[in-house]
Amino acid sequence: MVWMCPHCAQSLEVVESGLVCVSGHRFDRAKEGYVNLLPVQHKRSKNPGDSLEMVQGRRAIHTAHLYRALADELVDVVASCPEVNTLLDVGCGEGYYDGMLSERLPGLSVYGIDIAKSAVRLAAKDYRKHHYAVASARQLPVMSSTIDLAICIFSPVSDAEIARAVRPGGFYLEVGPAARHLWELKTALYEQPREHASLRRTIPDGELLREGECHYEKQLTNAELQALVAATPFAFRGYREKREALRERSDLTISLGFSWRLFKLAQWQDSAVSRADSDGALESSGL
Ligand SMILES: C[S@@+](CC[C@H](N)C(=O)[O-])C[C@H]1O[C@@H](n2cnc3c(N)ncnc32)[C@H](O)[C@@H]1O
Ligand SMILES: [Zn+2]
Repeated sequence: MVWMCPHCAQSLEVVESGLVCVSGHRFDRAKEGYVNLLPVQHKRSKNPGDSLEMVQGRRAIHTAHLYRALADELVDVVASCPEVNTLLDVGCGEGYYDGMLSERLPGLSVYGIDIAKSAVRLAAKDYRKHHYAVASARQLPVMSSTIDLAICIFSPVSDAEIARAVRPGGFYLEVGPAARHLWELKTALYEQPREHASLRRTIPDGELLREGECHYEKQLTNAELQALVAATPFAFRGYREKREALRERSDLTISLGFSWRLFKLAQWQDSAVSRADSDGALESSGL
């Protein structure tokens, strides 16, 4: 089993009502099919992670396939990695990329975690064959070395947890914004928009195998534009008058830009000590 008990770190077995560990900790399966593996003492707020409005905004833009070209490129990258059967999506949101992955790679066993219950609920409801849990990226509820490839798209991540969860010789694919991602939206909202910093990420015990950028433009309808604003921190930032003006726009052509890095984890796992508890530099940066 892949899922790990968040209380005693033993593996969780499937029972009719959900999951149970040998110590008797039980986790009921919600009617949508997900489990909640986030201990209440690890919650920093009542509803951690993205708000329902952000999740719904993201669902709307993914339904409009605004990020389709990125998804296609990521599926190609995953397909190019040998011996990948079990994939973990860290900060999976409402599951769009997971759906694209298992559509093209039907043999894949897909696991996803997100700290926002509303996101996991949507993902589990729509992708019944995937395995979803409410959980934190800082304490992945998966047994050590059970994951062939972990993916993290615009979400926070803990490098130490990736190194623990991914098997020796497995893969980690991380995606973040390119310098001018959503530039027209930024210039519409801010007096002095700033480019995204180039992260040039490295991870402990991870060799950079490949990296790439994906750029394209899209003409958005007003509805798509509003959904995009709702799904990003832009909903609360920028000048209020500029935000109002954006609401009136009938359409807007925007640039989308992503950068991704594919790492291969070391073949032989060193001791936990060398797997420094360095958290990933990525923050949840909105879409
Ligand atoms: C920008 S969204 C990206 C969602 C998805 N990967 C996508 O691209 O559609 C960031 C996600 O990270 C989640 N998140 C934030 N903090 C988290 C944490 N500590 N652990 C797990 N997920 C977290 C949010 O709830 C949100 O769904
Ligand atoms: Zn337990």
